[in-house]
Amino acid sequence: MRKIIIAIDGYSACGKSTTAREVASILGYRYVDSGAMYRAVTLYFLDHHISLTNPKEIERGLTQIHLAFHINSHGQTELFMNGVNVEKSIRKMRISENVSPVSTIKQVRQAMVEQQRKLGKDKGMVMDGRDIGTVVFPAAELKLFLTADIQVRAFRRQQELLEKDKLVDLNTIIANLTERDQIDSNRKESPLAKATDALEVNTTHITIDEQVDEVVRMALGKIVRSRK
Ligand code: DC
Repeated sequence: MRKIIIAIDGYSACGKSTTAREVASILGYRYVDSGAMYRAVTLYFLDHHISLTNPKEIERGLTQIHLAFHINSHGQTELFMNGVNVEKSIRKMRISENVSPVSTIKQVRQAMVEQQRKLGKDKGMVMDGRDIGTVVFPAAELKLFLTADIQVRAFRRQQELLEKDKLVDLNTIIANLTERDQIDSNRKESPLAKATDALEVNTTHITIDEQVDEVVRMALGKIVRSRK
């Protein structure tokens, strides 16, 4: 069966990653969380005190970062940076608070987009992020743009953090999400935007299962049509 690329973009905490992961697993596709890559770069830059205003340091830093996705024993994709599993450390608030400024940097975006395109060269992939349908894979066969009310997004993020034993107050999360929306949507380099041919899905009142069913249904429609 012909394989396609599914690009899922949208604001933080709209259920992109959960939907993308589930859809990939149902279709037997690979899942790539592009946000995890920007988070890993942020972790490296913070740990190595790389100045975000020094292009030389940034370029040197980027050459030192090797990213690879591996599948764990539960079938979940995990990101490794320079051979170390960084899945846990990149989800901390320290990273969430610094990732948007890092992802505005042109050299960072160029390096990540290049790697993302390589990962998708054989298709059969679901990738989620902010610029997947607009910049990384403008010819993706299925493009989705997820939205949801800020209260619902903050509550979902709070539950995710709670599962990692971290209680963060709702207002702190709302402030972080609002600030990231603002930076992500207004940056000069490939800002978060809905591709003209993306389908918008508002996830405020639907469950993850409903979201996944809907996306799988759309994907199967595209796969069948792309065989004709
Ligand atoms: O999806 P996430 O919340 O883990 O993403 C973290 C940050 O990475 C987000 O605030 C913006 C940035 N990002 C990006 O600029 N482009 C992408 N394709 C994915 C994420």
